[in-house]
Amino acid sequence: MKNIVILISGRGSNMEAVVRAAQAEGWPARIAAVISNRPDAAGLAFAQARGIPTAVVPSKSFSSREAFDAALQQEIDRHAPDLVVLAGFMRILTAGFVEHYAGRMLNIHPSLLPAFPGLATHRQALEGGVLEHGATVHFVTAELDHGPVVAQARVPVLPGDTEDTLAARVLAEEHKLYPYAVRLFVEDRLSIEHGDVRVLDPQLADTIS
Ligand code: GAR
Repeated sequence: MKNIVILISGRGSNMEAVVRAAQAEGWPARIAAVISNRPDAAGLAFAQARGIPTAVVPSKSFSSREAFDAALQQEIDRHAPDLVVLAGFMRILTAGFVEHYAGRMLNIHPSLLPAFPGLATHRQALEGGVLEHGATVHFVTAELDHGPVVAQARVPVLPGDTEDTLAARVLAEEHKLYPYAVRLFVEDRLSIEHGDVRVLDPQLADTIS
């Protein structure tokens, strides 16, 4: 049984999708904790209602990135995580923190990386005039929104799209993509070879569409 710790900063809809899938599909994993850097993160209520331990490590109370990351690491490690899942966790992480969880920390980003790293990805996509957009799950490395890609979901950009309509189309895919990718990890179906992710037994891919 693997322990998953999920980090959120806000709404937590991706966290919710992972929790629901883990419980409904009987993964060999349990959600050991949901931790937020913001006390007002809406997603905390969902986790609490499901009986999942929650914690807040308030980033505003720390004077340096290093001090915050050290406190966060201590809170995460209380739960002996096999995997740390960043689900809308809006913090830039220090290299030491990332190194500590190397090979066992995933992030979801709302673009087809390497296109549009950083913030406002839907605006970037619209301004870039791309015909296709989407989301990426990747292992976290020290460089922001880089790191070996586990899986991507694609959506069309449609005439008349606004940031909101495009974000909603991408988010619906995120809610399938992230549970799929996390499940691959907890079932030991991912390996990183020369910086690339290999999916063992890719037939599970059928379950996301
Ligand atoms: C999601 O769209 C996620 O991909 C994005 O924030 C949103 C969080 O929503 N993450 C990033 O932009 C990270 N760089 P949620 O709190 O409802 O899961």
